[in-house]
Amino acid sequence: MITLITNIKELLQVREISVDKVSGSEMAHLPTIKNAFLLIEDDRIAGFGEMENLPAIEADKIIDATGKMVLPCWCDSHTHIVYAGNRDQEFVDRINGLNYEEIANRGGGILNSAKKLNGTTEEDIYNQSKTRLEEVMRLGTGAVEIKSGYGLTVEGELKMLRVIQKLSQNYPITIKGTFLGAHAIPSEYKENRKGYIDSIVNEMLPEIAKNKLAHYIDVFCETGYFTVEETEKIIEAGIKFGLKPKIHVNQFNSIGGIQSGIKYNALSVDHLEIMTKVDIESLKNTETMAVALPSCSYFLSIPYTPAREMIAAGLPLALASDYNPGSTPSGNMNFVVATACIKMKMTPEEAINAATINGAYAMGISETHGSITIAKKANLIITKTISSFYQLPYSFGSNLIDSVLIEGKIVS
Ligand code: NIG
Ligand code: FE
Repeated sequence: MITLITNIKELLQVREISVDKVSGSEMAHLPTIKNAFLLIEDDRIAGFGEMENLPAIEADKIIDATGKMVLPCWCDSHTHIVYAGNRDQEFVDRINGLNYEEIANRGGGILNSAKKLNGTTEEDIYNQSKTRLEEVMRLGTGAVEIKSGYGLTVEGELKMLRVIQKLSQNYPITIKGTFLGAHAIPSEYKENRKGYIDSIVNEMLPEIAKNKLAHYIDVFCETGYFTVEETEKIIEAGIKFGLKPKIHVNQFNSIGGIQSGIKYNALSVDHLEIMTKVDIESLKNTETMAVALPSCSYFLSIPYTPAREMIAAGLPLALASDYNPGSTPSGNMNFVVATACIKMKMTPEEAINAATINGAYAMGISETHGSITIAKKANLIITKTISSFYQLPYSFGSNLIDSVLIEGKIVS
């Protein structure tokens, strides 16, 4: 099946030579081709160039993109979209003055979601989660990482990971699963933290590895959740079972989680709302991607990741949604990109690089996703008629997406 997109006003994020990520100093540049064509063969990008060089091709389908722009789909490298129910009461409690920590200390927060998940059937969780997955696909996400972490029991965590696996089998979007058993200490282990960590290491991990249910391992390394020492123990165990780390660090406090991530060559360190100069220095010249989650900062009214300081230090930065029921009930990557521009002062070029190629790196798929490059997946956003790609973040409340192609096929 050959599809040809013609008369593209501007084709964005064109990388003739494949790159795995772009560093802070390169992020300001977004390579584009004006008045372009794009050729798709089955699920892959097969060619592109200026319209005047359009080869004579018998295409099965032609899409005329006059006035429209085309860019690679968003790569959302950090989500928790498999969950049961919602936490709208906590949202109102926060409006009325409680903060995230106070809610968690009352048994709300992650433990609230764990209770809901463990009381919901696997089929129901699948159905609730697929609605969210379909929603983000229509919003231009072409690859998504999904974490467990609302089970917090052997059965609950396995149930979540099976749902993630089933979503990945049933949908064309690329999905990477991450085991986040270390998301919070369940109440029954409050006085026996070691007991829960032993269960992660000795019961959950072997079962997950045996059934190939996850690609990555995550830990919420934070005051009140998992200490640096506990984080390292869990990461080490994950690595023994073949899972590379991607960890939650520096959301509320800088306690050394970034340095642990680097020590174990984590693929990414995520959140980074609270960053010291030492944290920024530590990330230089490492293979670990820094991931910012601006919708979480927006929703919880907490600081934004200091993108300007990090980019000035030359660090590559990725943007992800963190879609989850507590801190970020939105998976809209268009809003993430806009918020990064508006609140973190990233330029549109930087934000688009961060949400495509650097996002792909943060989920280990930059060989196949994140840019317009021959042989990469034909995961594409076709915009509505716009005058400049600056309009994507500028018109932050409008949906400027005309259509989305995943693996060469139109979604929705
Ligand atoms: O990334 N911070 C830890 N985990 C999630 C939120 C979990 C929740 O509140 O349900 C996050 O923000
Ligand atoms: Fe998260």
